[in-house]
This record gives sequence, structure tokens and C-alpha cells, in this order.
Amino acid sequence: MIDIKIELTKNPKQKPDESNLGFGKIFTDHMFVMDYSKEKGWYDAKIVPFENLSLHPAATVFHYGAEIFEGLKAYRTKNNEVQLFRPMENMRRLNRSAERLCLPTIPEEDALHILKTFVSIEKDWTPHSEGTSLYLRPFLFGCDPFLGVHSVNTAKYVIIASPVGSYYKEGINPVTIMIETEDVRAVRGGTGEAKCGGNYAASTRAGEKAEKKGYSQVLWLDGVERKYIEEVGAMNVMFKVNGEIVTPKLTGSILPGITRKSCIEVLRDKGYTVNERLFSIDELMEAIEKGTLEEAWGCGTAAVVSPIGHFDINGKIYEINGGKIGEVTQDLYDTLTGIQWGKIEDKYNWICKID
Ligand code: PLP
Ligand code: COI
Repeated sequence: MIDIKIELTKNPKQKPDESNLGFGKIFTDHMFVMDYSKEKGWYDAKIVPFENLSLHPAATVFHYGAEIFEGLKAYRTKNNEVQLFRPMENMRRLNRSAERLCLPTIPEEDALHILKTFVSIEKDWTPHSEGTSLYLRPFLFGCDPFLGVHSVNTAKYVIIASPVGSYYKEGINPVTIMIETEDVRAVRGGTGEAKCGGNYAASTRAGEKAEKKGYSQVLWLDGVERKYIEEVGAMNVMFKVNGEIVTPKLTGSILPGITRKSCIEVLRDKGYTVNERLFSIDELMEAIEKGTLEEAWGCGTAAVVSPIGHFDINGKIYEINGGKIGEVTQDLYDTLTGIQWGKIEDKYNWICKID
């Protein structure tokens, strides 16, 4: 297993007020950093006090967007244990994203060992209050100090951590979503299924537009026909239509969410039919108009399971389930958060405890 040097801070920070954490604004005392070169492979793995990074101004990441990231959480249980939810899934997706962007991959077992070691150093930062967690942000980027467009010879892998509350100000209350009909987030063959910074940069303009109109996020349509529903800015989406649970199938332009995968497994286990298929905006509007759209929700690590109360489609507002959380959404939320915070039995073996 990879050797990690540990240098602890001499100036630990004061822990934050847990009643007002927000999302990703406060950072812990340490960070993990590791370098890569084509000649040496990964080297110099270390946990050091949290500080600014120093990079060459020509570094690939600044010019050609060679950057990928992950997002997962550490949860504190009522027995005061700290645990992760399916972390190997994130490490595998990190490597798939790296392959898509021609960045170096990290052997899975090393990647998991690094993550667990880092969390065990920072575990006191995992907040105690209901609904809070320690958000972990691993990221990997190209550092070559020259301007030619090429796969990189040098890279860095970093992990930072942030104690967080709810991602949306609404918490578990229904969010409002604007359907974007002009900009597109990704196309098949592009980088949509990789978790790379560039996808989020391309999404910002529509996100701003939605925010100005008072919406929480944007729902993306496919980039070719602008017809099929893909996902929301930071979540995958699911619908309950006439008893059937539908979620857009992974066509290559959608992020394969770990929460999405877990929701599908839990729902099937509970006896629901879940269809991963193409679901068009026309089908959605027809279901709303006929009254067969029973529930809609988004799911993701940061957002957990988030009911959708309203859609704005070209300026017309459609209300879902009277703007209230539905039965399946609530059940999924209770099951996933129950497992994550150790309130119910982890019968799927998804939890990874931190020593
Ligand atoms: N889709 C996008 C664009 C995201 O940013 C996220 C968040 O990570 C998700 C979906 C949900 O993925 P996961 O459940 O793995 O967090
Ligand atoms: C996550 O849910 O972990 C995400 O990465 C969403 C993020 C863009 C805030």
C-alpha cells in the first residue's frame, strides 16, 4: 500500500458553529497532496496543513481544463463513529473520469487507502448535528508547465474536506427547477459522464439564469434533440408516473450518480419497478397535464434526495404533487440517510467505517 507522510498542523482551527454550516465554505485543518510524473508514477503522498497550492502559470489545468473531481461524505453516527458511503464507487468513477480526460489513474486500493487515512486524520471535523456531514472533495489535475495541447506528463491529486449542512436552502422541502431549452450541458461522446470541472463551467450560464428567476437549479435536456431529460445541475432525476419509476438511462452524457445507483437498488429491493429509459420533456408535460406525474425528485451526494415541487418549462409553471414531498421520495430519503447516518441496518454492505 502507498506510503503517506503525515505532518500535523501546529495551529488547529476553531470548529465552526454547526447551526450555520452552509455548503463548502469552511475547510478543515489538513489536506492530502500527491504528485505524479510519467517517469516516477505517483509519488510524495502526504497529509499536510491546509494551505494554498503553488502552480506554474502555464499549468495545463488553467488553460485546457484538465481537471476531474469527486464528491462524497463522511457521516457521524449516534454511536459517535465516522463512516463513508460506498467510497470505492467514487474512487472507480474518479479513475473513469481520469481515463476520459487522459489524466493518470490511481490504483483503486491506494485511492481508498488515501481517502480513509485522510478522513481518519480529519474525523473530529465531522459535525454532530442532524443532517450535517463532512464533505470530501478529491480532485486531480494536469500541471505541465507548457502551453502545447497534449496529454499531461505531470499531475497532482488533492483531497480537501468541508463540514457541511444542507446543499439547498430548502433542506428536504421541495426545490423548484427550471428546464433549460437553450444551453446544453453535454453531448454523447463528450465529457458528460465524466466528473470534470469543464462540465460545470459550461452549466454556469443557465444556472445563473435560473437563479435570477428564483429557481434552485436547471434541468438539462439532451444536447442533440433537446428533447430527452438528462439530469439536474448537481443531481440525477427520477419520476413516478402512473406507478412506474422512471429515470433517464445513462446514454454517455449523464453523470452516473452513486446516489442514483443506490436509489435504483433500494427501490427495486422494495418491489418497485424502475425503468432506466429515455424520458422526453413532452412525456413529462403530458404526465403533468393528465395528472399521472405523481412525484419527481433529484438525487446526489450533496443534495441527498430532494423533492421537486415545481418545474418551469419555457416560463410556464407546473406544480408536482401539490408542491409537497411524495411518499416514495420520503421513503428513499429515510432509507438512504438512515443507512448513511447509521440509524438503520446497512443490509447492502455500503458503509465503510473509519478507524
Ligand atoms: N449529476 C451531476 C451533474 C452531479 O454533479 C452530481 C453530483 O455529484 C450527480 C449527478 C449525483 O452524483 P452522486 O450521486 O454520485 O453524487
Ligand atoms: C456532489 O453531489 O458531490 C457534487 O459534486 C455536486 C457538486 C457539484 C456540488
